[in-house]
Amino acid sequence: MDLALLESLNDRFAFENRLEFAFHESGLIAGHVKTDQCLAEFFLHGAHVTQFVPQDEKPLLFMSSESMFDSSNPIRGGIPICFPWFGSHPSNFEMPSHGFARISGWELVETSWHGESVQVELALKLAPFDLRYVMTFSSELHVELQITNASDELQTCETALHTYFAVSNIANVSLTGLENDSFIDQLTREKHPPSLDSNGLNGSNGPVHPISFEKETDLIYLETSAAIQIHDSDWNRTIEIEKEGSLSTVVWNPWIAKSARMPDFGNDEYQNMVCVETANISPQHMLIQPNELKRVACRHSILQK
Ligand code: BG6
Repeated sequence: MDLALLESLNDRFAFENRLEFAFHESGLIAGHVKTDQCLAEFFLHGAHVTQFVPQDEKPLLFMSSESMFDSSNPIRGGIPICFPWFGSHPSNFEMPSHGFARISGWELVETSWHGESVQVELALKLAPFDLRYVMTFSSELHVELQITNASDELQTCETALHTYFAVSNIANVSLTGLENDSFIDQLTREKHPPSLDSNGLNGSNGPVHPISFEKETDLIYLETSAAIQIHDSDWNRTIEIEKEGSLSTVVWNPWIAKSARMPDFGNDEYQNMVCVETANISPQHMLIQPNELKRVACRHSILQK
């Protein structure tokens, strides 16, 4: 454990009682936020938000009890950052799933306190890109990935802010906001038209509206820019996700067999999570000109019913 690093983070970036840094039991360094509005936790490893609990609410984010916490593996739960590709590398299967951003150590560059919110900015150089990630913790959770092309040539990349939301039970969950968008089913590779047809009726060829879950679900919605709602009937809450700079949305639940195959995920944990990911995935990958900066952001808030 690097005690000197921890001490310098606390000297330079902590605010007494609101933000401090400590070693997690794994030895990784975590930031802890505690304000009148929320409790939150993030790791420098992966610039990974692992906890966000608005005051008087249940946790917004799901974390697996089986997650690994080490410097070469991704954390399972919270908000992994997928970058510069999504899923398998397009040509080299030895490259890590979802890219390097979530398994890299990020550098803390700035923290600030704005009235009632704590803002934390981290940086990572992943040639040819320079990344910044700004987390804002208030009564809502806002995260923004800033991607600069630091090369002299046009670059392409994919990205996803792969949020794992906590839910009472997946059987109680439905999603709205995606019903007018076509989607690719990653399990069959088939492309489907929107769930609602032009007359507002359920189409025959995909999940009905509103989307609910009764099997493994792995869908990439295309041309999605509207807000998305996760309704949880048992917890009597609706989470809203507002996006910026994102044209794709991934909806994922591993269900039973895939959960059993994942070494860092409990067999029954699929019941307590759903991923709704703010993404840009081929054919909606990002094109970034030399020296251009592009932003991908999402705001997660709990709407009362
Ligand atoms: C989702 C993908 O975004 O991430 C799924 O759509 C994938 O196909 C899931 O299984 C988890 O990926 P990983 O690499 O974290 O196990």
